[in-house]
Amino acid sequence: MELQPQHGGFVIWITGMQGAGKSTLAHHLHKRLTAAGRPVELFDADDAEQILVKGLGHGKEDRDTAVRRVGHVARLLARHGAVVVVAALSPYREPREQLRREVRRFVEVFADCKMETLQQRSDVYRRAMAQEIQNVAGVDDPYEPPTHPDVLLHTDAERADASVLRILQALVDAKYIGPTEFGRLTGGQKPKKAAKGKPARGGKGKGAARARPGARKAAARAGARKRR
Ligand SMILES: Nc1ncnc2c1ncn2[C@@H]1O[C@H](COP(=O)(O)OP(=O)(O)O)[C@@H](O)[C@H]1O
Ligand SMILES: [Mg+2]
Repeated sequence: MELQPQHGGFVIWITGMQGAGKSTLAHHLHKRLTAAGRPVELFDADDAEQILVKGLGHGKEDRDTAVRRVGHVARLLARHGAVVVVAALSPYREPREQLRREVRRFVEVFADCKMETLQQRSDVYRRAMAQEIQNVAGVDDPYEPPTHPDVLLHTDAERADASVLRILQALVDAKYIGPTEFGRLTGGQKPKKAAKGKPARGGKGKGAARARPGARKAAARAGARKRR
């Protein structure tokens, strides 16, 4: 029989620039986890009507406050067994890192996407470049990509269902869900075995799964994009 730590709550935090696919992925995850019988809560922190962020602006201080508020509620819910899926631009690294330290079971997902595709998906970039609007992360405001995300997605190069599958695999690697639950979530697929010598975060060495090959490279790429 499967061990049962998998019935504890955890937080899936999806960060990325506008149009990268955060809301799409969060909704897919919410739907699948709910159908599999998990208590799930979804926060779209970029929805200005969201009660926790309502009234906050786009400046650094307000952006960080949004992360702290949503993160705080997510942590409380996860502590009581819920799965909390958060889609949040959360452009500044430090408050995300702080959350990672505070939330015991936390998966940081970086939805990375090249600027060309972002521009096709969202008009904000054209408008920001034309200086019609201000405070757009990645144009006139910074977006600080995670240096060690648990999951690095290239949403310009893979379909949303493939991205969802990789997030679910990360949950198995971290031992937040077991193989049976993975099967329920994926219509009967089997998870990949964890690579040897790389215990998952939440397993033995906390932080181990963060040393993902390619993650640094992507972070550097996204950083370079920001400086362009
Ligand atoms: N791998 C992927 N993951 C998420 N979204 C994707 C992916 N590939 C294409 N898309 C598309 O990109 C768009 C992302 O929009 P959205 O989820 O609103 O972004 P965000 O919430 O980050 O601003 C959607 O139209 C979605 O269908
Ligand atoms: Mg969104």
